[in-house]
Amino acid sequence: MRKPLVAANWKMNGSREFAERFFTDLNLEGVTSGVVVCPPFPYLSLVAQEAEEKGGFAVGGQDLSQEPSGAFTGEISASMLLDSGARYVIVGHSERRSFYSETSELVAKKFFAAQAAGLIPILCIGETLEEREQGRTLEVVATQMQAVSEVIDTDAWKRAVVAYEPVWAIGTGKTATPEEAQSVHEFIRAQLGQVGDEVQILYGGSVKSANASALFAQADIDGALVGGASLDAKEFAAICRAAV
Ligand code: G3P
Repeated sequence: MRKPLVAANWKMNGSREFAERFFTDLNLEGVTSGVVVCPPFPYLSLVAQEAEEKGGFAVGGQDLSQEPSGAFTGEISASMLLDSGARYVIVGHSERRSFYSETSELVAKKFFAAQAAGLIPILCIGETLEEREQGRTLEVVATQMQAVSEVIDTDAWKRAVVAYEPVWAIGTGKTATPEEAQSVHEFIRAQLGQVGDEVQILYGGSVKSANASALFAQADIDGALVGGASLDAKEFAAICRAAV
């Protein structure tokens, strides 16, 4: 049976003071789902320290290099993330695909590099509003998944998490309806074949404590990847509590 999972993607937000205050306010008592917090790189070790002291959550990076090491100025490797206490890493977030021209082929290399080092990749896939209006949602997510399937064994999907994040729902307040999200999650699970039942598939895109329960009630929605709402400790804990 898949365990629910709720991950916080702080994106390029926060500070040392913000992080310290966040964990002072974060109360995960009664939360039964898995919880991951993905801060900006400079705060990974601080968040990992909090995870060690408070318990109840794991740490993730928001991106990584596809290279293991070398002359790649500014890049951060999978092993450096592990060194900093990360167990997870987000790969292929739509903001990286759109603002930094990350192709599905590059995302697949990052996915592979993450697993090669022992990290659990959270693979982000999802369509733009234009693609949805063209009726291409399933084609887009299938293509994004196929790029990864080409570089891994089927079983490797069991050591990954998939996050369906319709681009038109990210940061817009326009959450997909539970039924819209469920239909795509069901398709994604089918695309995973015989390992599908073992893979956590998260929904991302304007998740709030007010809409989380209805989303999580769907058979193929195993949790959430939360942006804006994860910057408020009480709101984030309420979303985690809804994932039962
Ligand atoms: O990675 C999660 C993020 O893209 C969702 O953002 O602000 O719509 O929850 P938000």
